[in-house]
Amino acid sequence: MTQIRKLPNNLINQIAAGEVIERPSSALKELVENSLDAGATAIKINLIDGGKSIIEVVDNGRGMMEEDLKLCLERHATSKIIDEDLSNIQSLGFRGEALPSIGSIADISIESKAKNKDEAWKVSVLNGKKSNLEPSNIRIGTKVEIRDLFYKVPARLKFLKSNGTESRYCKEIIKHLAMSHPNVSFYLSLDTRIVFNWEASKELNFESIKKRLAQVMGDEFYNSSVVVDKNKNGVKLIGMAGMPTLNRNTGREQYLFVNNRPVKDRSLLGALRASYKGLMEHNRFPVVVLFIDIFPLEVDVNVHPTKAEVRFKDAGKVRSLIVNGVREALEGAGLKTAEEISNKMINKIEVNFSNLKSSSEYIHSNELNNLDISPSSFIKSDNVDELIYNQSYPLGAAIAQTHETYIIAETNNGIILIDQHAAHERIVLEKIRAGYLNDSIEKQILLLPEVVELSEEYFEVIKNHMDGLSKIGLVIEEFDKNTIIIREHPAILNNVKFEVLIKDIIEEIMEYGNEFVLSERLDNICGNMACHSSIRAGRNLQASEMNALLREMENTPNSSQCNHGRPTFIKLSLKDIENLFGRS
Ligand SMILES: Nc1ncnc2c1ncn2[C@@H]1O[C@H](COP(=O)(O)OP(=O)(O)OP(=O)(O)O)[C@@H](O)[C@H]1O
Ligand SMILES: [Mg+2]
Repeated sequence: MTQIRKLPNNLINQIAAGEVIERPSSALKELVENSLDAGATAIKINLIDGGKSIIEVVDNGRGMMEEDLKLCLERHATSKIIDEDLSNIQSLGFRGEALPSIGSIADISIESKAKNKDEAWKVSVLNGKKSNLEPSNIRIGTKVEIRDLFYKVPARLKFLKSNGTESRYCKEIIKHLAMSHPNVSFYLSLDTRIVFNWEASKELNFESIKKRLAQVMGDEFYNSSVVVDKNKNGVKLIGMAGMPTLNRNTGREQYLFVNNRPVKDRSLLGALRASYKGLMEHNRFPVVVLFIDIFPLEVDVNVHPTKAEVRFKDAGKVRSLIVNGVREALEGAGLKTAEEISNKMINKIEVNFSNLKSSSEYIHSNELNNLDISPSSFIKSDNVDELIYNQSYPLGAAIAQTHETYIIAETNNGIILIDQHAAHERIVLEKIRAGYLNDSIEKQILLLPEVVELSEEYFEVIKNHMDGLSKIGLVIEEFDKNTIIIREHPAILNNVKFEVLIKDIIEEIMEYGNEFVLSERLDNICGNMACHSSIRAGRNLQASEMNALLREMENTPNSSQCNHGRPTFIKLSLKDIENLFGRS
């Protein structure tokens, strides 16, 4: 007797559901995608218990006729594949398996009215059994309700998180889909409490997308990001990229779309990481929303169970568009500093103000004497006549240095506080990088070459990379057993502690072993060099040095943040200051 038998339909559907429906948010994604494919311009979502008990999606799309409603719960039944051609998919769904899969693991009811019909119909699956069609009184579009997800699959039920966490996943799905559909209104309630109610724009263009991003991502992102807009070889990239100072400890707020389909594609996220390389620390993640538009025949969307990943015919083309597009946008932003940081500072000062009971209670006259507010706590710019003293530069004229760490500059309409170490680090990094890329690094010969003794292991590592390092201006030779000699260094560096720098570089190389490629780790190596030579905090600067630093910053890409993603300066406009003092 044969041991192989065909599985019954309900089991086949449950297996399919296992891949597609992982949690309430994945079921929700399928329903909302169906509404979008049906051309809805308004989608209303109600969730109870994070979607575990009830997921209800109501839309005003084109709806289904009686015959379609009978078929929609059948496996592999879809209206979306045109001419039996899988290579030219324009809709979000195409497999015809979402609804039957959901019906195999939960109760589901679907009511729908086709646009050109007078009557509406309802079909449901209760306890695994599909009902006959019955009349419905729905007046437009489609209403789908899923009840008690996974009650038939208790193993899955156990892996669900708290209602709050499941609600958060659901919100993420809606945010993601809403960003690429600004011409659709989205309403979400959680346990009857309204959470989103985003109005639709009439048009679908970059302006309406930006408006939607402001709604979905909030002011912080909108004010601290730059517009990305680049077209190359038939691929279009638009979106908004957060300034490096706006960073997170996970990649959760990186939203990518391919032909308006939300994706979480690893190779694209890798390209994104590369575009921020050297602008923030390894363990931080930028906040980004990017839309890639590509000819449908150049991308395969049928490669992942939940369609979260795609495969490009020419992946390199798309990745390099992302790396260059985002990088250029960030560099083009020049001195734009993350507004959010300045605003946060202002808020902080305001909070401190409001904490004061009254100014007379706070500062008694004897305490006043103890406050270090005498001019000697500033190193005043000594030779004012000598300055390039001009407030109309974007970063203004340096008027003082304080605590041997911060430069205070005056602009036409405010003041700027600069972290001298962070700023110098960025300038050095960008100079060395540009010198390396254009093969034009300026080197300086050491009058007294520096000898550095290393362990045998370290010596072996550096020996193999001397040629590469000379391309970034660090000319090293073997000298003696386990000893090297440094003959030249990049001209931009001064006061370098070579021993520490060389050991740091060796450790960076060791971390990557045979995988180490200088051009790929350039930012880190340059970062090390910059860090070991910069005008450290704790160094007195002359007025001319301070102003030279400001002018360099104005001409350096990415200079509003250091290579760890921290801001290099903070702006306070006169208006902000007036606000703080209650003058306006
Ligand atoms: N909200 C809706 N409005 C109109 N028609 C719908 C709606 N939801 C589902 N349908 C119809 O039911 C069919 C089956 O839906 P289902 O989600 O199972 O498959 P699909 O969207 O075609 O493909 P996929 O499995 O990839 O999502 C769809 O092809 C569509 O014709
Ligand atoms: Mg679908």
